[in-house]
Amino acid sequence: MHLIPEFPASKLPHVGTTIFSVMSQLAQEEGAINLGQGFPGFPIDEHLISLVNKAMSAGYNQYAPMPGWPALREAIALKMKRLWDMDINPNAEITITAGGSQAIFTAIGALIQPGDEVILFAPAYDCYAPAIELNGGVVKWVELEYPHWNIPWDKLESAYSSKTKLVMINTPHNPTGKVWSADEMSKMANWILEKQLFLISDEVYEHITFDDRPHTSMALFKEIRQQTMLVYSFGKTFHATGWKMGYAIGPENWMREFRKQHQFNVFTCHTPTQVAFAEYMKDTTIYDAISPMYQAKRNLIMSALQNPVFEAVLTEGTYFQLLKWKGVSELSDVELAKKWTIENKITLIPISVFFPSQIDMRLFRLCFAKEDNDLIEAAARLNQIQ
Ligand SMILES: Cc1ncc(COP(=O)(O)O)c(C=O)c1O
Repeated sequence: MHLIPEFPASKLPHVGTTIFSVMSQLAQEEGAINLGQGFPGFPIDEHLISLVNKAMSAGYNQYAPMPGWPALREAIALKMKRLWDMDINPNAEITITAGGSQAIFTAIGALIQPGDEVILFAPAYDCYAPAIELNGGVVKWVELEYPHWNIPWDKLESAYSSKTKLVMINTPHNPTGKVWSADEMSKMANWILEKQLFLISDEVYEHITFDDRPHTSMALFKEIRQQTMLVYSFGKTFHATGWKMGYAIGPENWMREFRKQHQFNVFTCHTPTQVAFAEYMKDTTIYDAISPMYQAKRNLIMSALQNPVFEAVLTEGTYFQLLKWKGVSELSDVELAKKWTIENKITLIPISVFFPSQIDMRLFRLCFAKEDNDLIEAAARLNQIQ
């Protein structure tokens, strides 16, 4: 008789289907406007599509070199020089990845040993903690302070121990929309230096900031260059999240280990897209329209939203806006989000899912990377909620 082995215990026992998938499926079943999952609901640049088509027709359909298409890595190095005066060796310090997520996963995998502690700020994007735990690392959480999501430096100090190896930051920040100031970034860089730690700076929303608040990259702080991995996403920047392409920039020793894992896991990413991005990035003005476009969308939905049951501090960056619900209910924020999807046909993401303690602050995240008419209709539906 053929016996099937019993499948072992889960390596991620606390992880289920993410709230994004759950809410998106419910939104679809209910015919709700989905402002839950963070992806653009409008077309991408036709020129970029034509460049991918052109690359395919020209025969760029086989494996690219393992670290990524050379011309693309060179284009990235040029961009980092132009924006942050960063001198990068594209052969050794840049790897093209299947989105920012894979860059994060691989950067953690290359660094973290069992027992290492990693400081994360809550609320946090949901892929950080599982990647740390899968590598035997231990997450130490520090909660950012509502409503401006400032860093509690005293709590950061208490979270530190001799086992701390890595700190992960994200600016502009999902889900809060906070954009760390140059002062905050500088203070963090100094702290990393003083404590001799590694840093992953997730900057996938680098080109989406509002009200003249600039993004400050950790690339600016040359003194921590040898201990910092920067993470970016073409999907976020060029509204093509489904293309799943991004990159990591880091020091040679960290990148060497990164690539050892990358080559056996992904090996390399979609060639024609890389060829197209290399060409597309030659135009350095492509970034200029991104923030104004999103700022107009933020303003559109926030001026149409006229419901005193929701309170909001205007988001500083990303395409997310938080709403605080002031109503009274026994229901949790997750249950409320489901109720609104079913009854009001509008889907938001409850913020408790971004906190390890699942703390319910009656905060909901909406994504305004949608067509203007959807935003206006979404606001009308939000205005009906009590
Ligand atoms: C903060 C943050 N980091 C990383 C990612 C992953 O980006 P990508 O889709 O390029 O994997 C996301 C996507 O939502 C994000 O919000």
